Amino acid sequence: MKKILITGGAGFIGSHVVRRFVNRYPDYQIFNLDALTYAGNLENIKDIEDHPNYHFVKGDIVDEAFINELFLNYNFDGILHLAAESHVDRSIEDPLAFVKTNVIGTMNLLNAAKNQWKDDFTNKRFYHISTDEVYGSLGAEGLFTETTPYDPNSPYSASKASSDHFVRAYGETYGLPYVLTNCSNNYGSYHFPEKLIPLFINNIINNKPLPVYGDGNYTRDWLFVEDHAAAIDLVFHEGKNHETYNIGGFNEWKNIDLVKLLCQIMDEKLGRTSGTSQELITYVKDRPGHDLRYAIDASKINKELGWKPSVTFEEGLEKTINWYLENEEWLQNVTSGSYKDYYQKQYS
Ligand code: NAD
Ligand code: DAU
Repeated sequence: MKKILITGGAGFIGSHVVRRFVNRYPDYQIFNLDALTYAGNLENIKDIEDHPNYHFVKGDIVDEAFINELFLNYNFDGILHLAAESHVDRSIEDPLAFVKTNVIGTMNLLNAAKNQWKDDFTNKRFYHISTDEVYGSLGAEGLFTETTPYDPNSPYSASKASSDHFVRAYGETYGLPYVLTNCSNNYGSYHFPEKLIPLFINNIINNKPLPVYGDGNYTRDWLFVEDHAAAIDLVFHEGKNHETYNIGGFNEWKNIDLVKLLCQIMDEKLGRTSGTSQELITYVKDRPGHDLRYAIDASKINKELGWKPSVTFEEGLEKTINWYLENEEWLQNVTSGSYKDYYQKQYS
């Protein structure tokens, strides 16, 4: 039986990965390690919390002694590392928090894995889930490939770039078996409403302003989160050791065009006159160091592992909007802060 550690499983992407692994791999014991920061929400995975192969561990990856003890106790076979500080705007306010979790936290996991596995790397794997932001910003043309040089611009992307470098360094120096993926912007259910799509859905529901940074002509490449989880599953099981794969949907949108599309769909869903939600658009001060354009060339993972997105953007956005409208209680619990009580209620 395999013991698999998934970090950050109470967050947005991590919750989808944990759910997928718990349901698809009954022979695995899945350990979800999460510090439950503001971004961690156990309501995201309450549907699988009683599953016999699921175990929740509350803990901080920055705590070296705790991580070492956890590894001694469980001797994991595989690690999928998603725990991170993930919001660019927060990294501008508090860069050190990002160095602590994203760099030191990753180092603690790498050291614990190296020390645990040092005598035998057979069938062991450390998987670092990273971002396309490490490549910096594109101009009007071109795509990020796996060989694009790193050129991070925000404290968030600099911290993720640093952790990527350490993962590769542990592979080269100590022979640690690893795989690494760099993915574009995700969207879907259980997305914390500080990020563009869930924030704007929530604001449209509540008739609040939609703060578009700068002129809105920034481009992001959007991928449905369940397709990212499927890609992670595939890379974990079939990716080549010491390889990197880019993951993306070949789905570029200028922010302002995406916001207008969201407004149009939300007007239809909420039975509002067409154009009502667009009136909420408010151009605000730009994000400092705002990257102009991200776009992923995902042909390597497609050719080598056969992965491609399962839904179009239209389908994914429809599913996403429907989910938020059908789960207003989840949204209210997050925005009111009451989601924080869930751990106390269930686990103490
Ligand atoms: P998220 O912010 O929604 O979730 C992060 C999770 O990590 C939370 O549950 C939080 O409680 C936990 N966490 C934070 N600090 C911790 C610590 N010190 N110890 C233990 N747990 C801690 O993030 P997300 O959007 O789901 O992103 C997950 C991963 O995927 C991150 O590594 C991120 O860099 C990467 N990524 C995200 C995107 C995206 O579009 N969201 C795209 C590409 C890559
Ligand atoms: O590219 C992958 C990255 O995507 C991940 O690594 C990050 O963890 C994830 O947060 C996301 O980063 P972005 O900065 O691209 O996502 P965000 O949703 O914050 O912003 C998307 C775009 O929308 C960006 O150009 C900034 C803009 N924006 C964002 C917010 C929150 C606005 O115009 N207004 C807003 O209020």
